[in-house]
Amino acid sequence: MLYSEKVLDHFSNPRNVGEIEDADGVGEIGNAKCGDIMKMYLKIDDGIITDAKFKTFGCGAAVATSSMATELIKGKPIEDALKLTNSAVVEALDGLPAVKIHCSVLAEQAVRSALSDYYTRQGIDPLPIVGEIKEPEE
Ligand code: FES
Repeated sequence: MLYSEKVLDHFSNPRNVGEIEDADGVGEIGNAKCGDIMKMYLKIDDGIITDAKFKTFGCGAAVATSSMATELIKGKPIEDALKLTNSAVVEALDGLPAVKIHCSVLAEQAVRSALSDYYTRQGIDPLPIVGEIKEPEE
C-alpha cells in the first residue's frame, strides 16, 4: 500500500475543515508547480492556539497533512506551532511516499503563514519570529 492507514483516514475524513470567521491569523500558501493551495485559519488566545481550521484545494496528501497539522497545533502554545516541521506531520501520519513529501511542506508553511499574519495584526514584525515563508519548490 502506497499510503498509510492514517493518511487514508485523514484524507477521507479530514479534521478541522472550514474557515474561522473571526480568526486571529489567516495564512495562504500555494505550490506553483502542482497548483495546490492551502488556507489556514487560527484562533489564538493568550498565546494558545485554541482553534485551527483549513481549506485545501489540492491533492490527497495535502488534505491529509493539513488535517494532521491542525490536530497537532490545536490547544498548543504558539511556540510549539512554530516548531512544527513537515517531518513531524509526516511522522504523525506514519509516513508519506517520497514524491508526496512536498505536500507536507505546504502544511508546515501554511501554519507559519497564518502565524505570520497573526503577528502582523499585533503590530509585531513576524520575520524574526516566524522566518520567511517559503513556497515548496518541488
Ligand atoms: Fe500539490 Fe500534493 S501534489 S500539494
